[in-house]
Amino acid sequence: MMQFLDSNFHGMFFLVIYGLLFLSSVLELGSASTPSQLQLEANAILNGGWWNLSSSDSHDICSPINGIYCNDAGSVIRIKYQCSQGRVQLGRLNLSAFKNLESFEVANCSLQGTILPEIGNLSKLTHLHLSSNDLLGEIPPTIGNLFQLTHLDLSHNTLRGEIPHTIGNLSVLTYLHLSFNSLQGEIPHTIGNLSKLTYLDLSSNSLQGEIPPTIGNLSKLTYLDLSYNSLQGEIPATIGNLTQLWSLVISNNYIEGSIPFELSFLQNLDDVDLSCNKINGTLSFSLSNLTSLQSLNVSHNLLIGSLKPFSDSFLNTLDLSYNNLTGLPLVLNSHYVDISFNNLKGPIPNGLDPYVLKGNKGVCSDILNKRYTNSNLVQSTTRNQRRIR
Ligand SMILES: *[C@@H]1O[C@H](CO)[C@@H](O)[C@H](O)[C@H]1NC(C)=O
Ligand SMILES: *[C@@H]1O[C@H](CO)[C@@H](O)[C@H](O)[C@H]1NC(C)=O
Ligand SMILES: *[C@@H]1O[C@H](CO)[C@@H](O)[C@H](O)[C@H]1NC(C)=O
Ligand SMILES: *[C@@H]1O[C@H](CO)[C@@H](O)[C@H](O)[C@H]1NC(C)=O
Ligand SMILES: *[C@@H]1O[C@H](CO)[C@@H](O)[C@H](O)[C@H]1NC(C)=O
Ligand SMILES: *[C@@H]1O[C@H](CO)[C@@H](O)[C@H](O)[C@H]1NC(C)=O
Ligand SMILES: *[C@@H]1O[C@H](CO)[C@@H](O)[C@H](O)[C@H]1NC(C)=O
Ligand SMILES: *[C@@H]1O[C@H](CO)[C@@H](O)[C@H](O)[C@H]1NC(C)=O
Ligand SMILES: *[C@@H]1O[C@H](CO)[C@@H](O)[C@H](O)[C@H]1NC(C)=O
Ligand SMILES: *[C@@H]1O[C@H](CO)[C@@H](O)[C@H](O)[C@H]1NC(C)=O
Ligand SMILES: *[C@@H]1O[C@H](CO)[C@@H](O)[C@H](O)[C@H]1NC(C)=O
Ligand SMILES: *[C@@H]1O[C@H](CO)[C@@H](O)[C@H](O)[C@H]1NC(C)=O
Repeated sequence: MMQFLDSNFHGMFFLVIYGLLFLSSVLELGSASTPSQLQLEANAILNGGWWNLSSSDSHDICSPINGIYCNDAGSVIRIKYQCSQGRVQLGRLNLSAFKNLESFEVANCSLQGTILPEIGNLSKLTHLHLSSNDLLGEIPPTIGNLFQLTHLDLSHNTLRGEIPHTIGNLSVLTYLHLSFNSLQGEIPHTIGNLSKLTYLDLSSNSLQGEIPPTIGNLSKLTYLDLSYNSLQGEIPATIGNLTQLWSLVISNNYIEGSIPFELSFLQNLDDVDLSCNKINGTLSFSLSNLTSLQSLNVSHNLLIGSLKPFSDSFLNTLDLSYNNLTGLPLVLNSHYVDISFNNLKGPIPNGLDPYVLKGNKGVCSDILNKRYTNSNLVQSTTRNQRRIR
């Protein structure tokens, strides 16, 4: 009896082996690429547990419905995971198998685990989008091996540790989004090597130290957001080289010193937010040069002096509140103006809603007290509030 069972078992074992051999020969016949490569990819797909596929699907894993796209040879070049099949583990997918992968996109999928050093094996990768997941751990330095990478989005995860210096090797990167993580340490100075970068968002992390002056090397940058970190030191004068910049957001840090006059070189600036820092000195940089500026927020800083006369006719929003400004600007045509909680003195310019001047002890307080009974003022305040972007 035992012997019968035993031989039966062996028979089944050989059947399975024969079946696998047959399967692999089918794979060999069915492709122009190296068969072993396609097999490795099929194994990685089937063993990863990401897709509801069985071994009977191994002859054709390519399936846009499953978000698996292949080249003519049948090799996987794009994975855009549809997260309908529950939580998946990044580590369970053997990424090293996908030698031809160009785009790996798993966004908003509760993807778990850490980004393993093996990610650096994806030498053809151009797009890596793993935003809004539950990824933990550090960004592996091997990310710097992805020499073809143009888009890197790891935002909205729980990544910690430092941004690896090797990021400076990503010389064709145009888009870098690492916001809403717990990244620490300094912004690596090698970031200045990313000369093709147009979009850089490192906001809402725990980055420390100074803004590296090499940032001035990113001459194609249009969007720069470093807000909600613990950055210190002054805004580097090299910022004046970012002539394509239209959005500059450095709010909610510990930036000190004065606003560099080089900022006035940035004639494409549309939106500047330097609020909630320790910026001192006067607003000396020439706003008159910034003809594209729509919104300026320098509230909650230590600015002093009187505002230079400038034409703000193009500004939609001007927030100067919570500083120590002593003189009023001559022209204030902005749709939204807030100069409250400063050290202003003197008469209120024509057409200016007194409410935006509250918290200035030197400004006629009896007018300010009337605002609750004056319907025009209340109207104008609600109009202002609607304009807040
Ligand atoms: C996998 O697919 C089979 C058949 O299509 C289905 O019965 C099963 O519920 C699916 N499992 C999951 C986890 O989606
Ligand atoms: C993952 O893929 C690599 C490269 O294709 C291969 O050498 C390795 O054996 C695979 N690892 C596992 C656990 O399957
Ligand atoms: C993420 O997915 C949830 C539902 O799964 C959806 O409600 C939410 O809007 C998505 N967020 C983004 C940023 O796509
Ligand atoms: C993949 O990357 C790991 C870690 O970076 C490395 O040790 C391994 O040799 C690589 N494997 C392949 C198949 O390239
Ligand atoms: C990658 O970056 C590191 C650190 O910045 C540097 O030492 C190394 O030479 C770079 N590697 C290549 C191949 O450029
Ligand atoms: C800058 O990029 C070049 C390749 O474009 C690379 O050789 C060099 O190591 C990089 N330097 C740093 C500091 O990352
Ligand atoms: C700035 O860019 C130039 C090339 O555009 C490069 O040679 C240099 O190493 C970069 N400097 C830094 C500090 O990244
Ligand atoms: C702009 O970059 C050049 C080198 O590319 C440098 O010599 C110059 O000092 C920089 N200017 C500013 C304002 O940073
Ligand atoms: C502004 O702050 C810097 C650095 O904290 C300091 O050295 C400088 O004296 C301050 N300037 C003024 C005008 O307060
Ligand atoms: C205005 O911008 C131009 C061009 O960048 C620059 O040369 C000039 O110095 C700026 N003027 C002022 C007053 O900042
Ligand atoms: C300016 O920034 C402060 C602090 O970051 C914020 O509370 C305020 O709403 C902003 N002002 C406008 C007009 O957006
Ligand atoms: C504001 O400036 C006045 C002088 O104009 C000075 O006495 C006062 O200490 C300053 N307040 C702050 C908080 O810097």
